[in-house]
Amino acid sequence: SPVAAVIPAAGRGVRLGPGAPKALRALNGTPMLIHAVRALAASRHVSLVIVVAPPDGAGEVKSLLDAHALPERTDFLVVPGGESRQESVRLGLDALPPEYGVVLVHDAARPLVPVDTVDAVIEAVRDGAPAVVPALPLADTVKEVEPATVPGDPEPVVATPDRARLRAVQTPQGFDRATLVRAHADVTDDVTDDASMVERLGLTVVAVPGHEEAFKVTRPLDLVLAEAVLARRRL
Ligand code: CTP
Ligand code: MG
Repeated sequence: SPVAAVIPAAGRGVRLGPGAPKALRALNGTPMLIHAVRALAASRHVSLVIVVAPPDGAGEVKSLLDAHALPERTDFLVVPGGESRQESVRLGLDALPPEYGVVLVHDAARPLVPVDTVDAVIEAVRDGAPAVVPALPLADTVKEVEPATVPGDPEPVVATPDRARLRAVQTPQGFDRATLVRAHADVTDDVTDDASMVERLGLTVVAVPGHEEAFKVTRPLDLVLAEAVLARRRL
């Protein structure tokens, strides 16, 4: 079954600080979104990329994609996004043509994901998993706290989950198309990733090895790291 990638890129990037919408900020001279689209299009299996643009930036994103060469085999569509990531992904899914049975959802904010990670996710979906996430063990110990009402106040620690059983989850997350569409139709809770919506349906999500370079550009230091990774690759 052909594979399509939905790339939510409609966020403002508040944590990155003032400037253009995060997906349009440059990394070594090229918009982050273009790096992300190329990273997904690098997989021979991905034949369509649907970019979910900032609500008032669909025209600009379309021009950017026209200006930056993608592989011949890759089509793209641009749709305007929504208020939340969840809504943006759903708007992307609404534009998905019927022939695509496998869907990847990939954050524009993870511009450097290696193609091997993309292919590992696709392979696990094709092997029958309804939902697949790339995941890495944690470096830090994680604690659950009672969140302070005033930011910066000390917070009582409630628990320390066993780190060996925890994973930090990345994208692209891969799905059987019908499963993801049902999850977006049925699950109304606020979630931070698509796989957790599939979990709410009672289905099993599987994790495959992620990659350090699939980190999410969230805060200013992440821009420094992303540009250093690109320089190391000589891009
Ligand atoms: N996203 C989206 N639509 C939204 C919010 C987020 O398409 N309404 C996308 C972002 O563009 C990003 C991905 O979801 O590619 C992951 O979100 P995040 O890293 O939180 O990006 P932002 O929401 O842009 O950043 P912030 O939360 O700091 O504002
Ligand atoms: Mg956000």
